[in-house]
Amino acid sequence: MSLWGGRFCEPSDEDLRRLNDSIDFDHILYAEDIEGSMVYARALAQAGVLSAEEAEAIIEGLGQVTREFACDRFELAAGDEDIHTAVERRLIEIVGDVGGKLHTGRSRNDQVATDFRLWTMRAADRLHGELRQLQAAIISAAESHNETVMPGYTHMQPAQAITAAHWLMSFFWMLERDQERLRTAKESMAACPLGSGALAGTPFAINREQIAADLGFDKPSENSLDAVSDRDFVADMLYAIAICATHLSRLAADVLIYSSAAFGFIALDDRYSTGSSLMPQKRNADPMELMRGKTGRLIGNLTGFLTTLKGLPSGYNKDLQEDKEALFDSLETMHQLLPVVTATVGSLQIKAEAMAAALTEDLLATDLADYLVGKGVPFRQSHHIVGQVVRLAAERGVSLSQLPLSALRELSEHFGEDIEQVFDYARSVARRNSYGGTAPEAVRAQIAQAKARINQ
Ligand code: ARG
Repeated sequence: MSLWGGRFCEPSDEDLRRLNDSIDFDHILYAEDIEGSMVYARALAQAGVLSAEEAEAIIEGLGQVTREFACDRFELAAGDEDIHTAVERRLIEIVGDVGGKLHTGRSRNDQVATDFRLWTMRAADRLHGELRQLQAAIISAAESHNETVMPGYTHMQPAQAITAAHWLMSFFWMLERDQERLRTAKESMAACPLGSGALAGTPFAINREQIAADLGFDKPSENSLDAVSDRDFVADMLYAIAICATHLSRLAADVLIYSSAAFGFIALDDRYSTGSSLMPQKRNADPMELMRGKTGRLIGNLTGFLTTLKGLPSGYNKDLQEDKEALFDSLETMHQLLPVVTATVGSLQIKAEAMAAALTEDLLATDLADYLVGKGVPFRQSHHIVGQVVRLAAERGVSLSQLPLSALRELSEHFGEDIEQVFDYARSVARRNSYGGTAPEAVRAQIAQAKARINQ
């Protein structure tokens, strides 16, 4: 029997029931649902709606329901439409009719909005912890390769020399912004809807500030009509996850390219590589492809849910039930991915020799232009002159340093013997020691800053 059968002569159609029920997925919210009910029972007692004994009986009964869920002994019954009705049905079985007083002034609308916020705040904490581990793995990989020089790319074309540590740390800061997004999402969802009723508020004198504080919220929500249908917090989380995954998808793209045979800059540990059923030689970086691939569905969960929200009229609408599977899926996907991504980064073998072998002197063209700037040539001219130097070297099929000084001096009289010093990758990297630059000294400072962040 359902909890709202009074108005109906006939039971719901079976197919509708299956479509309508959310218990298959929202049972995950049992702990938050029951905590909310315990706090609400106390609030009803304080408001004089329940006697102290009635509230005690309800809270004890709810304790038993929690234990049944926790040891997987909770038995679903026909009519258990969602977690809220299931818990209330079982409570009434345990404590009798007094259990039927718990829902006074409350609606599943303010109830589900409260439960899911609470659950999502906790999920944000868990995700924060998992991302911290990945950030720590990035830092330790970077620390071992602060002097390792590799080609840096723009447009996938060799651009300037950078250190492997600098490359790795770039992802730390992307994740740090993701952490910030999680934090602000959590902050803005900390308004408690309980006490909003179905849409209009409650006539019972419950203390909403107290309820909010007891459940770990910062404050009660300000408008009951808004509170029951506000799912911004779900969209905020879906967005925080989608952009975080987008960052990790880009990391995956780098790892896939750098671990390809053509580059050979890095190798994945055997435990995080996969083989081919046909080609015995294959060694594939599947975890990275899954990271990149699953980012598609994570972005899909965000756009799908925003699409659900966009046309909804005021107040609660059943469309909102779509919030849960989207967020559950995004979080579950991240919980699957993150340990593997963290372990992959943690066990990444950086091939310093292969990186060194891939350094080509055109990576030093900017340094050559800077050299002329040092001789007083305006940069725009020195850029043009070095362009001609590069062209000449290409025409002669030699590297920049193989061009004789005489040939260089035909292009600019400012070239001198001291040009030798420019053809040094470590020097090129070390010169870029501005704040945030790739110089080992600057990256050491960057790493110190990153460590301070994660130890905060
Ligand atoms: N299972 C519902 C949901 O997830 C709970 C709220 C139902 N409210 C209602 N008025 N039917 O949204």
